[in-house]
Amino acid sequence: MSETFNIGLGNNDSEIRKQSESDFIAFWADQAKKLAWFSPWDKTLEWNPPFAKWFEGGLINASYNALDIHQKNKANKPAIIWEAESGESRILTYKDLWIEVQKFANGLKSLGVTKGDRVTIYLPMVPELPISMLACSRIGATHTVVFSGFSSASLRERIEDSKSKIVITSDGGYRRGKIVKLKEIVDEAIQNFDFVKNIIVLERTKEPIQLTSRDILWSDLIKNAPSECEAEKLDGLHPLYILYTSGTTGKPKGVLHGTGGYLTHLYSTFEWAFDIKDSDVFFCTADIGWVTGHSYVVYGPLLHGATEIIYEGAPDYPEASRMWDIIQKHKVSIFYTTPTALRMFMKFGNDIPNSFDLSALRLLGSVGEPINPEVWKWYYEIIGKEKCPVIDTWWQTETGGIMISALPGIETIPLKPGSGTRPIPGVNISIVDEEGKEVPPNTKGYLIIKNPWPGMLLTLWGDDEKYKKAYWSKFQNVYYSGDYAKIDEDGYFWLLGRADDVLKVAGHRIGTAELESCMVSHKDIAESAVCGIPDDLKGEVIIAFAVLKENVKKEYAVLEKEISDKIRNDIGPIATPKQIYFVSKLPKTRSGKIMRRLLKAIANNDSIGDVSTLEDVAAVAEIQNTVQELQKSIKEKNN
Ligand code: PRX
Repeated sequence: MSETFNIGLGNNDSEIRKQSESDFIAFWADQAKKLAWFSPWDKTLEWNPPFAKWFEGGLINASYNALDIHQKNKANKPAIIWEAESGESRILTYKDLWIEVQKFANGLKSLGVTKGDRVTIYLPMVPELPISMLACSRIGATHTVVFSGFSSASLRERIEDSKSKIVITSDGGYRRGKIVKLKEIVDEAIQNFDFVKNIIVLERTKEPIQLTSRDILWSDLIKNAPSECEAEKLDGLHPLYILYTSGTTGKPKGVLHGTGGYLTHLYSTFEWAFDIKDSDVFFCTADIGWVTGHSYVVYGPLLHGATEIIYEGAPDYPEASRMWDIIQKHKVSIFYTTPTALRMFMKFGNDIPNSFDLSALRLLGSVGEPINPEVWKWYYEIIGKEKCPVIDTWWQTETGGIMISALPGIETIPLKPGSGTRPIPGVNISIVDEEGKEVPPNTKGYLIIKNPWPGMLLTLWGDDEKYKKAYWSKFQNVYYSGDYAKIDEDGYFWLLGRADDVLKVAGHRIGTAELESCMVSHKDIAESAVCGIPDDLKGEVIIAFAVLKENVKKEYAVLEKEISDKIRNDIGPIATPKQIYFVSKLPKTRSGKIMRRLLKAIANNDSIGDVSTLEDVAAVAEIQNTVQELQKSIKEKNN
């Protein structure tokens, strides 16, 4: 029996769950009515598996729902309280944000951006990032935000795949007091791309930059732009954004989200999970470059007219206390972060948070990776002072919004540290075995989603076939999440990590195939395999194995540095392996598949189990020796 915590906010609206159980389509239609539509939809759901059309024919605009509807009652309410890494703050009220968005939308229009065009946004965490997104959605352009920690090669791949007409960036961004020169990265990324018409450059750091004829400064673009720009009336299915994420194939997948369904999902979950009230100050620490930032920094809070914090920099910069300092300074009441960040804060010791006034907090959330029960309890006791419910929210880039979570906004149920509790109303999730049959309680299986849900991706950008194959082919007409989970005797869901070749390092999704193909593009590497091993801080870290081409005579240390640099350059620092092992062959099955399970076991010094399907058993002994020797020498060096 796991420990339970009876803590809630006293809300209990059992009607919502009851309604969702009788007819999920009618239920979501009722939720959608809470948004502002220019005209109603024809049919709530057209389900032609695996393609769902939610609210087709209805006319709506995301930017209108985030801004215009608040002008009557909340014009002077802070929408964004931006905290720079340097400590400076900037407040944008709903009116300020509305005007900035309209001006910038007019600026985009003046460059010829129209409905359906794609715009890549490569910006640090500054208010102009949400402003750019909302300006795009206002005029019907599809935004594609690329996390500003990604390399120029990753950015290039995304700009090319989306065929973006415009790239929005800044001269640079601050990270731990240093400047990352984003404009230079963009220049490298777009070489020979004639389809990119303009680069809009925000002056954040004011460092000197090279401007070419297709570059235009943000300030020049909006200087004479009118401050009124009517929101386009867009179909419920209009593509709001593409967000690239790693999957099991070498190339990142362009997850495409629509408008009406996505906004409905966010509107509902933001209220149910976070119990948002007019007086709250909401702080989600995610970078907008990831889906959490899209859904619960940009769209979710703004749809509700909430006040939120957007923080520019690293969570432990310049001091380990930075987050607690922000919470105290701005009286944050709802805090949403990741287990990796929490593990780091926990390591810094309790004295740090204990020396801050965190009394405004009333609800805490976690997302992105499994939260260990010890970390949950620390969060509950030390940060929440045993008075805030801690919600563990499970979802994915593809689901658009939260799918499994305790929902203090509508329900009070006992919390179990490490469990997401139950699926949200209106979704049908279960755990199945290899044959697609539901597993008994407390049995590990695959997490699947049986009915379409409003926030679900429309497809993968430009690749319906890949969409079908990646999510809908393992089990007939049900969505395969790629995650393992189990349901306990009380019906609580426990997420148990990825079931596919996707790694989760510090909560970031990294595809093994993407990393391997990057490694073999190094001229000295013939073959490679990567796998994740558990890590106290990051949840999981990457271990790589490389087989060198014949006659390569370089020292391993030199090669290791070259490969790490290449990964940083081609993908980004988040994908750098903790350790690279050089071996003469990789363990493969007779059909030629690399046995990652085995590599993982060896790297962890675990039992290697059944190797009867292995093609060459000698490969195992060699890898075991290499790993042991390397681990020994690292230990000696450390002593
Ligand atoms: O493995 C699950 C893990 O993160 C994956 C989705 O990653 P991404 O698309 O980057 O979105 C992250 C933010 C929503 C999932 O397949 N994951 C996410 N939330 C949790 C989680 N694992 C366990 N517990 C969670 N709360």
